[in-house]
This record gives sequence, structure tokens and C-alpha cells, in this order.
Amino acid sequence: MDISELKIPTHVSIIMDGNGRWAKKRGMPRTFGHKRGAEVVMDICQDADDLGIKYLTIYAFSTENWRRAESEVRALMTLFSQYLKICYRKAMENNMHVIVIGDTSALARSLQEQIRVLEEDTKDFDHFYLQIAINYGSRDEMVRAMRRLAADCADGKIAAGEITEETFSGYLDTAGIPDPDLMIRTSGEERLSNYLMWQHAYSEFYFTDCLWPDFNKEELVRAIEAYTRRDRRYGKVKED
Ligand code: FPP
Repeated sequence: MDISELKIPTHVSIIMDGNGRWAKKRGMPRTFGHKRGAEVVMDICQDADDLGIKYLTIYAFSTENWRRAESEVRALMTLFSQYLKICYRKAMENNMHVIVIGDTSALARSLQEQIRVLEEDTKDFDHFYLQIAINYGSRDEMVRAMRRLAADCADGKIAAGEITEETFSGYLDTAGIPDPDLMIRTSGEERLSNYLMWQHAYSEFYFTDCLWPDFNKEELVRAIEAYTRRDRRYGKVKED
């Protein structure tokens, strides 16, 4: 398919899976895969922007990932901090708005501060939006949203009967960001793994055997080709 024929999704979300297996195949520690994975994140961000994608959401660390070996968690946290520094520079150069979703209160104070500054300094940028999910879990996000909504109900700010889907969406970490059109998961696993369960209600899913560290622009285009070919039934009148 010619690139000009591609129907570019507005919002792409990615589950970046397979770093550990990629490293193991090379006889290297898992953290080697995460390092390479972080480099791929930077490239894919640029590729997504070049293709005309407006919003990219990546799953960097789930609420379940704390169960991994302490050394691996520590290595991932160090990588996030290094990545956010580079991300800050890129955001300034490219007018990129960066948002971190998830419960950041469990992260190290220094990382929280880095996130705060990054979000604050890029909040008016609108060329490209990058959402990074760190300590993110969809159920946790919904419970946190419900707590705040219940508190607003108790304060009389909103009546229970007035709550709509839009109201609830507005309490989620992704408030104001359109739902993903296309969700990509690498490494052959075909699960949602507690990722944006509310927001993915109508998204197209694309699964590839490619391990995240091997993911590149060609793979991204392949996913968009599949998306372009699919008949998006919801909200669309069939033409034939
Ligand atoms: C899954 O691979 C990947 C993760 C645990 C999180 C993704 C993290 C990165 C891509 C690295 C850094 C990210 C940023 C934003 C700097 P896995 O360990 O589950 O692989 P496996 O299934 O092969 O074991």
C-alpha cells in the first residue's frame, strides 16, 4: 500500500512488549532489552509525528510491574528518568505536549518532580501529544476517578443522576485526550493487560510477533496498513 493511501489514526496506543525475550535471545540481561526499548520509543515518537499521528500513548510501567525483581524495577526507573530528560529537550524543539498517566504518587520524589516540570513546561504545546503510562493500571485509574467523583458528589458539586460517560471520562487521567483509534501490542501476546480499558472501547487492535526492541517505522506503517484495510463498523455507515 502506498503511504499516501494510508488512513492515519489520530491516536495510537502501544503496549511495548518483548524486551526481556529480545535480550534473552542475545544472551543478555533483561535490562539490556529495556535500554534498547527506550531508544525505540524515541524513534517511534518521531516516526509517529512524521506520519501525521497526533497522539501517541505508550505503556511504560504497569501497576503490576512492581512485582518484577527489584533490580529490574530500579533499572526501569533509572531509564525513565534518563528518557524524560531527553524527552524534555525533544518536547521543547518539537512543540510536543507530554502527559504522564498513572498513579505517580508511588514514584520516587525526584521522578515526580521531573514529571511535574515536564508536564508544566509543555502544557501549552499542541503539535504532538505524548502520553506515557507509568505505574498505570486501568482499574486503578477508574477507582481513583470514582473516588474523586464521589467526593464531588458528596460536596454537592455534581448530582449522581447527572453523571454521564463524558463526566466520567473527565475524571480519568486521560481527560481531554481523544480515545485511541488503534492499539498495537508487540511480541505476540494478545491481551489488554489493564491498559486503557475504558478508552479502548471502540479501538482497533493490532497484534504483531515483532519484539518491541525490533519495532520500527516499517512495523508501524504495517499496523496502519491493517488499520486502513479494516472496515470500521462503529459509527460508520457501510458504503456497499
Ligand atoms: C515489556 O517487556 C516492557 C516493559 C516492562 C515496559 C516497557 C519499557 C520500555 C520500552 C523501556 C523504557 C521505556 C521508556 C518510556 C523509557 P518485557 O520485559 O515484559 O518483555 P518479555 O515479555 O519478553 O519478558
